[in-house]
Amino acid sequence: MSSAKFKRTLITSALPYANGEIHLGHLAGAYLPADIYARYLRLRGEEVLYICGSDEYGVPITLTADRLGITPKEVVDRNYASIKKSFADFGMSFDNFSQTSRDIHAQTSQAFFADLHAQGLFTQRTKDQFYSAAQDRFLADRYIEGTCPRCKTEGARGDECESCGATYDATELINPKSVLDNSPLELRPTTHWFLPLGDWQEKLEAFIGKHPEWKPNVQQYCKSWFDDGLKERAVTRDLSWGVPVPLPDHEGKVFYVWFDAPIGYISATKEWALAQGDEKAWRTWWQDEETRMVHFIGKDNIFFHALFFPAMLMAHSENYILPENVPANEFLNLEGQKLSTSRGFAVWLPEYLEKFSADSLRYTLARNLPETRDTNFTWEGHQAKNDGELGNKFGNLINRVFTFTNKHFDGKVPEWSEEMMTDLDRSALEKVASDLEKWTEHMEKFEFKAAMEICVHAGQEGNRYFDEAAPFKVRKDDPVRCGHILGVTFQILRQLCLMLAPVIPFGMEKLWGWMGMKTDLWVGGWTEGMQPIEPGRPLGKSEILYPRLEQSDIEEEIERLNKMLEE
Ligand code: MF3
Ligand code: ZN
Repeated sequence: MSSAKFKRTLITSALPYANGEIHLGHLAGAYLPADIYARYLRLRGEEVLYICGSDEYGVPITLTADRLGITPKEVVDRNYASIKKSFADFGMSFDNFSQTSRDIHAQTSQAFFADLHAQGLFTQRTKDQFYSAAQDRFLADRYIEGTCPRCKTEGARGDECESCGATYDATELINPKSVLDNSPLELRPTTHWFLPLGDWQEKLEAFIGKHPEWKPNVQQYCKSWFDDGLKERAVTRDLSWGVPVPLPDHEGKVFYVWFDAPIGYISATKEWALAQGDEKAWRTWWQDEETRMVHFIGKDNIFFHALFFPAMLMAHSENYILPENVPANEFLNLEGQKLSTSRGFAVWLPEYLEKFSADSLRYTLARNLPETRDTNFTWEGHQAKNDGELGNKFGNLINRVFTFTNKHFDGKVPEWSEEMMTDLDRSALEKVASDLEKWTEHMEKFEFKAAMEICVHAGQEGNRYFDEAAPFKVRKDDPVRCGHILGVTFQILRQLCLMLAPVIPFGMEKLWGWMGMKTDLWVGGWTEGMQPIEPGRPLGKSEILYPRLEQSDIEEEIERLNKMLEE
């Protein structure tokens, strides 16, 4: 690993809201890259803990519950089960995928709050906010409607008028009403707790300053927030659905979701530790300086992971580690347009997986990660990658080599050796070995897209070698040379397998087995994968790993999206 300072790596992916399904935008942002990285480190024999779970509080969940006539807990449990399943089918290798609505999270976040509160690190402030007597609750801006104070149009939103474009404070609205039930609203004073981030600015600047290796997008965002000056942030809200504030006389007050959600990483680690039967083990992951923590997120989460949560961790009286990196991705567009979940303009993971394979999607997304700028997913592009690269380059080469060897060499790795090497053989092996090295360097730097390009290059080399050396042509006249070529090709395949395994684990686990590997690929398989595969080793039977995508299936998907745009 790049720096010997660390003994283990704690990887997190942003906790997805349990208010709907996962779509391709989520996957390309915070999930696939993290899973690729976690698998890469396990392959290398590193100690890794990969933590996630669903983010289950907040107003949108209660709205869904009202709409469906069920409780918020029922909403999140349903969505949790579905998200968990589609992630598993997609090959996400979390060590724990928890929920923030569980007791362990309430306890953990309340204790965290209590620690900061006891140190006097929060400030308290009373403000007027709209209150619905009918519903007996305070309402957030987005649930308030009224007459625009400027142009007097009715039905203007809580903080902005769509008709004249004015923005204002919700308290300026004329005849404010709840969008939920049209009940009239009154202003009532309410008291909340705030974390004055300004107090932490100097420390945060020093912290970020020590990480010039972070992605430029993350650094630029942080710099602009520093330039503006960090402001105080509310950590409590008047809501019924959330973690209750653990103080006397705080009925009806819960944590602001962005306060409790990142603590969810800690709760999920505690839950994992309990399941291991070693309750204290979570501390190794959060409080030992030899742990390297990496938060994978989308760019809309940068503030909370680079500044807000680190400030919370610094503020805690115990010594928590801070993130070593926060690789944030830009956004993935779909067919050249912004995703829109409200319009249904998205590709949902469970629906995708009903028809297509996980590896195929993982491959296309990995080739197209929005690492430094927004990228675009198109169904035709997906088909081109699946058929042209995954199928034609990798799957095909694997299948050809195995089928040929099984047929003509009794299903065993043929005799091959150093002495029999020609320049062609040597140069192919050297190119692939040097690709493997370059690939590793990119992986260490979270440059997964560049790593994928190296992979593709190595695949091209493998194919070129196989076609030029042409074992099928020399078999009759020179079976010894033919066997040797196959032996050399197996050395290429095992290196391709290492490079591709984090991205397309389902297929590469099969290949690993067919090559007769003995160790578990995900428990330091690297060591065995770097050793030559010896002549005489019995091989498994291969199968077609990556079939072509049907034209009609692709057209159906494009049509479905086009319809969404028309509506
Ligand atoms: N639920 C948030 C989102 O999807 C992410 C929460 S990340 C956490 O944007 F760290 F707060 F958990
Ligand atoms: Zn107006």
